[in-house]
Amino acid sequence: MKEKLERILEDASAEINKALSIQDLENVKLNYLSRKGELNSIKKNLKDLSDEDKRIVGALANTVSNQLYELISKKNEELYRVELNRKLEKEKIDITLPSDFRPQGKVHPLTNTINEIVEIFQGMGFSVMPSEFSPEVETEYINFDMLNFPPDHPAKDMQDTFYTKVAPNVILRSQTSGAQIRQMLNQKPPVRVISPGRVYRCESVSARKNNLFHQIEGLLVDTNITFGDLKGILNEFVRIYFGANRPTRFRASYFPFTEPSAEVDVQCIMCGGKGCRTCSGTGWLEVLGSGMVHANVLKNVGIDPEVYSGFAFGMGVERLTMLKYAINDIRLFFNNDIRFLNQF
Ligand code: DAH
Repeated sequence: MKEKLERILEDASAEINKALSIQDLENVKLNYLSRKGELNSIKKNLKDLSDEDKRIVGALANTVSNQLYELISKKNEELYRVELNRKLEKEKIDITLPSDFRPQGKVHPLTNTINEIVEIFQGMGFSVMPSEFSPEVETEYINFDMLNFPPDHPAKDMQDTFYTKVAPNVILRSQTSGAQIRQMLNQKPPVRVISPGRVYRCESVSARKNNLFHQIEGLLVDTNITFGDLKGILNEFVRIYFGANRPTRFRASYFPFTEPSAEVDVQCIMCGGKGCRTCSGTGWLEVLGSGMVHANVLKNVGIDPEVYSGFAFGMGVERLTMLKYAINDIRLFFNNDIRFLNQF
């Protein structure tokens, strides 16, 4: 039995040495050391030996088993390292290689202008109106009637406004001014909001006109609001947006929902007031419409014009962007030409 044990030790050691993988080692374990393995069958036969032999052979069997376990564990570690290295070598990445080119997106110039203007007015205490007060699909009632447009006003003509088939009098809004109505129906003064958004007009498209464009509406209603407040706020806006030392001019105008009404001009940024093609020789550029909220509009939304007054204004985002960057065709904003968009 002693010889048999020595042979097991020798054979098993040789097999462990030759093992090429962890699986090979498992097989050695199974053949020699498991319950059905060769060593165990010897241990099972110990009972037939004399006490003296039992002790010697038993001890030897334990030594052999311990030695084999130790050899296996060493070999296991060695094979593990070999396999790990092989894996690392295979999965190695070269971090010095140039990566794939991923073009980076940019903010659209119109979005940029909207963000900039919103920020200017936020700095003067205005907040952005909740979007549910300024739907793009609007009723004629809100877009015109509540804003004091007479029933026969030319803007209500099918030639100027997109009517839908959803229901009679449901239109694509032609201006953001309807948002004033929805805001005041939902909030009593003081009100101090701006509302940017898309508007639609049934027009033939040209370098100067698109049938979709963007406006920013402003509304301030409180006690003791005067035309002086309107001038102060809008002058400050022009100063920040166009830069200091850009003269403004308030020119009397007409809108159904404001009285008095004024259009705000800034001195032409191209010619500095001398007169050129951009300003049609006048030296001035119209940048926004404004006025004191008409008493009829306040009454329409249940605000007492004897107690409250306010002003409103509206500006075209495309126009303001074109003036700032000297862009001469409004269609460039909508063509998605990356060569144009990349310049911003
Ligand atoms: N809604 C007018 C337009 O589309 C612009 C405008 C003018 C808005 C005067 C106003 C305002 O709030 O007070 O032409």
